[in-house]
Amino acid sequence: MSDTLSAPAVTVAGVDKTFETREGLVHALEAIDLEVKAGEFVSLIGPSGCGKSTLMRLIADLDQPTAGTVSVFGKTAKQARLDQDYGIAFQQAGLLPWRTVAQNVGLPLELHGVAGRAARVAELLDMVGLTDFAGRYPDQLSGGMQQRVAIARSLAEKPSLLLMDEPFGALDEMTRERMQTELVRICAETGAAVVFVTHSIPEAVYLSDRVVVMSPRPGRIREIVPMRLDQTQDRTDALREDTSYFEMITAVREALHGGAPTTRGVETR
Ligand SMILES: Nc1ncnc2c1ncn2[C@@H]1O[C@H](COP(=O)(O)OP(=O)(O)O)[C@@H](O)[C@H]1O
Ligand SMILES: [Mg+2]
Repeated sequence: MSDTLSAPAVTVAGVDKTFETREGLVHALEAIDLEVKAGEFVSLIGPSGCGKSTLMRLIADLDQPTAGTVSVFGKTAKQARLDQDYGIAFQQAGLLPWRTVAQNVGLPLELHGVAGRAARVAELLDMVGLTDFAGRYPDQLSGGMQQRVAIARSLAEKPSLLLMDEPFGALDEMTRERMQTELVRICAETGAAVVFVTHSIPEAVYLSDRVVVMSPRPGRIREIVPMRLDQTQDRTDALREDTSYFEMITAVREALHGGAPTTRGVETR
């Protein structure tokens, strides 16, 4: 057990991923090495199609690498999936349409027979601002609201690892900032590690301990930028106006654009 506790949250070693398509081979990921420590917040950023979602799917054992290995808390990706060691919130909310908002959020708790579900679900719905929508069905919600349900569900069991693929993409700017602040708070509280995909440099900078900058296909790690935000400062809203914040944004932007004439699909505002 101590092994599991001291093991990194995620270790990706020498990973390659090639898809066979009718048009031929698509080399999505090449020579990916990445370690995410327990409790660490790591963002992946890079142009569309550079393999960010593919890498997340490999970590979540939704697909297998062509070469290399992925481990989660020292276990195989498959074992970690079976043990449900992580919460997932991906681009598609992936809600069950026949279950209410509350039933969707409570699903992981229900599957594991956790006691005191109603109170936990109420707490989660409050956190994502959906208390009044507990009895609604997913198709009665906007895309952003569906996404918040998915985020609440991913947090239901206070997982020690969260895999989030553009979870805030469908949210308006104000809700997005609120969810970011909330996520930081949750991570501080639970000590969860997070692997987070985003198109937004400011979002990556605000949230992360390290930002992994990927190159266009085949996706490689171009640079890993440590965030040197003022360590004495908590990640509060004031940080968004701090000099170190703008310096980090510049550092990530330069890493992204380094060597490539254009980097499409990445917000730099
Ligand atoms: N199941 C699949 N079959 C074939 N090609 C795929 C599959 N999944 C992803 N790809 C291709 O792999 C590349 C990386 O995709 P993806 O990981 O979705 O990129 P990103 O999330 O960075 O935008 C793209 O060229 C995409 O078309
Ligand atoms: Mg993607």
